[in-house]
Amino acid sequence: MTRHEQIAPDGRLRHLLDLEGLPRAALERLLDRAQALHADAYGGTALRARLAGKAVCNLFFEPSTRTRSSFRLAATRLGADVLDFDASTSSTKKGETDADTLRTLEAMGVHAFVVRHAVDGAVAALSAVAAPGTVLVNAGDGRHAHPTQGLLDMLSIRQAKGADFARLKVAIVGDVKHSRVARSDLHALRTLGAGEIRVCAPAALMPGASELDGCRAIDGLDEALHGADVVMTLRLQRERMEEGLVPSIEEYRRDYGITAARLRGAAPDAVVMHPGPMNRGIEIDADVADGPQSLVLRQVANGVAVRMAVLEELLA
Ligand code: NCD
Repeated sequence: MTRHEQIAPDGRLRHLLDLEGLPRAALERLLDRAQALHADAYGGTALRARLAGKAVCNLFFEPSTRTRSSFRLAATRLGADVLDFDASTSSTKKGETDADTLRTLEAMGVHAFVVRHAVDGAVAALSAVAAPGTVLVNAGDGRHAHPTQGLLDMLSIRQAKGADFARLKVAIVGDVKHSRVARSDLHALRTLGAGEIRVCAPAALMPGASELDGCRAIDGLDEALHGADVVMTLRLQRERMEEGLVPSIEEYRRDYGITAARLRGAAPDAVVMHPGPMNRGIEIDADVADGPQSLVLRQVANGVAVRMAVLEELLA
């Protein structure tokens, strides 16, 4: 399946696999709806009839804290039945294929699968074997994409800085090469017309030139932060990295860690973002993560509203 097949001919979303190729109107519609859902995203009961009778399965083949919990809350607050599938205790351990797992759960009446997988493209591959009408939501596949994280990041920026992204200088710092979050953020920032997108990483953690279309690749952190309105930092994703890409944690922190002192080079009202899980004292210092410029917990909160908007559009 190509990324365009996630959109039906009438413009509605059929699956959410990737933000690449998602038209600006569709992206903004989801952000607007997430914003409107805010009151109901935090325990409201008004929408419990919305997805009544639908069943949503969290199918996670990789660990997760934020994404899995917020999809579960989002589906619950829309009244869906929620099934949590843990690959570590399931028949995948007995050799069952991912496709057979999906079909087994479909046979029980599951309508939507929220899938996290270690392999790039695994969720699109499952969408190709799913029954017509079954909905797939990518909750992170390998290094490829994490579209709901991209959406919640855009919503967090919009709330903090307004909807005119053309005014913004955005710096994405750290292990961009292995980050599905950064890839989805880059697609969304381009779609929303961000004024300047800076990507800052050591050479070994910089993605290839084809992925940096419309971005400025910058090696030095101070240059990347200079006057930036939004600073996004990322975890070193060692589970997706060959050995030896980063010389040492101490050097990495010295050159690319977001500290209060380094942050003073950004715009005075800059906001700092991190998708979590954070490694405090490596890519971000605790006083920055917990400080007044941090959007980290706002991002988490927005995750519930964004996932409600996505599930509602796909299933209601
Ligand atoms: C990230 C992920 O799993 O892609 N976390 C998240 O979903 N918020 C980032 C990471 O693992 O570093």
